[in-house]
Amino acid sequence: MLSWEQTPELSPMRCCRAWVEIDFAALRHNVQQLATHLQGQADLMAVVKADAYGHGAVTVAQTALSAGATWLGVATVPEGMELRQAGIKAPILVMGAVSSGEEVQAIAQWQLQPTVVSPKQALVISETLSQLALSPAASPLLPVHLKLDTGMARLGFDWQRAAEFVEFVRRLPHLSIASLYSHLATADSPDDSILNLQHQCFEAAIAQIQSTGHTLPRIHFANSAATLGHPHLHYDMVRVGLAIYGLYPAPHLRETLELQPVMQVKARITHLKDIAAGTGVSYGHTFVADRPLRLATVGIGYADGVPRALSNQMTVLIEGKAVRQIGNITMDQMMIDATDMPHLQEGDVVTVLGHSAGATITADDWAVLTGTISWEILCGFKHRLPRIALGQTESTTSEAGLIDRN
Ligand SMILES: Cc1ncc(COP(=O)(O)O)c(C=O)c1O
Repeated sequence: MLSWEQTPELSPMRCCRAWVEIDFAALRHNVQQLATHLQGQADLMAVVKADAYGHGAVTVAQTALSAGATWLGVATVPEGMELRQAGIKAPILVMGAVSSGEEVQAIAQWQLQPTVVSPKQALVISETLSQLALSPAASPLLPVHLKLDTGMARLGFDWQRAAEFVEFVRRLPHLSIASLYSHLATADSPDDSILNLQHQCFEAAIAQIQSTGHTLPRIHFANSAATLGHPHLHYDMVRVGLAIYGLYPAPHLRETLELQPVMQVKARITHLKDIAAGTGVSYGHTFVADRPLRLATVGIGYADGVPRALSNQMTVLIEGKAVRQIGNITMDQMMIDATDMPHLQEGDVVTVLGHSAGATITADDWAVLTGTISWEILCGFKHRLPRIALGQTESTTSEAGLIDRN
């Protein structure tokens, strides 16, 4: 099957039934806003795991770095390798746990920086590096980032034994401690009580380590919510995902910075027809027309990232007007009620997510309707839909071009 990259004479915007638009000017704006908001000398890590939350890891990473981010965060070793293969030189933290010798080998080869969540894991990394016959003289020490559990109960070593953890890792060959960090469980909540508790535990762990005479080169704690709402938690670096993509982790954080959504999703009307009152629409006939309707089929469905749970609940935007979606959303298509827009034609473009003539539908709107979070909505847009770059990226020179994923 030919890909769009192999058929440059065809514009995906003209040929495709649906696509994702990535606004790199908005991304740049968000990164710059965040960078100027940081306390002291804190660095900005752009979290680009999960293909940059569905936005395209390489182009997002390149653009974020050129706009002021200095670090990148990924979840897995292959995600880090993808960035290195694209020529990205910035430090890359792998935030997931590393569990196999093969992963350690790839980390060393691609100069990634692993998270270490226990002495046992530090030992595995150190022993693997020894087996690779990398003498400390021949190869630089591998920078590792020690993660403490201060209340998230996911990854991390018991904060109460932080000094013991640091002492153990310090004595291992091949490793150098690059940072101490932890992750917040409730930073997006207006109730700060759990966040404050986590902060106390983290501070106690830092004091414990410092009392044994060790200095920590870097300390980091904040995700998007804490970066926006709790500047006292910026420490030496913040790890920001959602906010660089222009979304707020919670409504009460909207006042902090002006962010612009980076992703829009568009689709075409592929078929138009009149249906009579009493006609059932789509699988299961969950919608039955109560009057004659003009029905438009739109070329996007749940396999593209529109949650089926939005069936009969969502609207799309056409010329700034909200148009209701009707019947169950199917794998590749969904129907809308175009009765009030008789001038519409097959091929016309519908805004599924994004803005149109002053009206906006956000990932937050969908998250509320489906009982999930905007993070999951963004990550749901997989690569069946081509990504169209709007604004200048670091890797393209066109104003609106297909993103080169290689
Ligand atoms: C360890 C860690 N830090 C930072 C982030 C970024 O979070 P957010 O998207 O809320 O900024 C994540 C994302 O889940 C994470 O797992």
